[in-house]
Amino acid sequence: MTYTSSTVRVPDVAAVPRHVAIIMDGNGRWATERRLPRVAGHTRGVDAVRATVESCARRGVEFVTLFAFSSENWRRPTDEVSFLMRLFVTALEREIGKLHANGIRLRVVGDVSMFDDRIRALIQRAETKTARNTRLTLTIAANYGGRWDIMEATKKLIAQSLEQGAPARVDDESFAEHLAMAYAPEPDLFIRTGGEQRISNFLLWQLAYTEFYFTDIYWPDFDAAALDRAIASYGGRERRFGRTSAQLASQSQKADTLSC
Ligand code: IPE
Ligand code: IPE
Ligand code: MG
Repeated sequence: MTYTSSTVRVPDVAAVPRHVAIIMDGNGRWATERRLPRVAGHTRGVDAVRATVESCARRGVEFVTLFAFSSENWRRPTDEVSFLMRLFVTALEREIGKLHANGIRLRVVGDVSMFDDRIRALIQRAETKTARNTRLTLTIAANYGGRWDIMEATKKLIAQSLEQGAPARVDDESFAEHLAMAYAPEPDLFIRTGGEQRISNFLLWQLAYTEFYFTDIYWPDFDAAALDRAIASYGGRERRFGRTSAQLASQSQKADTLSC
């Protein structure tokens, strides 16, 4: 699918978001509150991932994007970083068969060149195995940073210019085509668990017109009911994309007349 930009064309809006992007935060605090090591929260977080992907698929969400490891998470203690890498491998190995059986396509975005060969090979295998699935696209952002993504797209445009000996076309859509998630529409709904209200270098470009939803719930506690609350909140938003409420009202009146 070709990327369509919300700043070029007003996208179609439905009551259920087509694309949900989530910052899964609060694993460490979930564990600390239970006097457990922080990493126990990450392990429990995988259960919440499974439940959330299942619930989204049942509700008709087509794209789910999960922030699993940011380009800044290397700053954490070495033990925690290696635990997260191992967890990523075991979760992927364990879940890929089920994801495939459920019609889910898996994509991983981020600078995977920083991962060891085994992880890279595993990602490649999982992406290839599920490439033709159409029910839902699950994207895992691993060693991902919104600034990295924008810089990579810029480098590709520069390379293209050098190759053709003339400046490449730079506009909203030609730029977005070079982003890591060019295969997906922009997120309709952004959810961050764990109480913080920031983007933490997630999808900087793509969140231009996304609806934001913050909850204090820690990621391991995020369940179907919490997802429903987020989707209900989304359903009550007026997505104007720069227009006025009156314009939206007259547009929906026109649509009603046409459907009569
Ligand atoms: C999110 O939970 C998971 C990752 C960043 C990998 P945290 O580990 O950030 O949990 P808190 O924010 O410290 O509670
Ligand atoms: C954002 O969470 C990254 C992920 C969930 C993978 P962090 O916990 O790393 O974000 P900050 O440091 O609180 O902004
Ligand atoms: Mg955190």
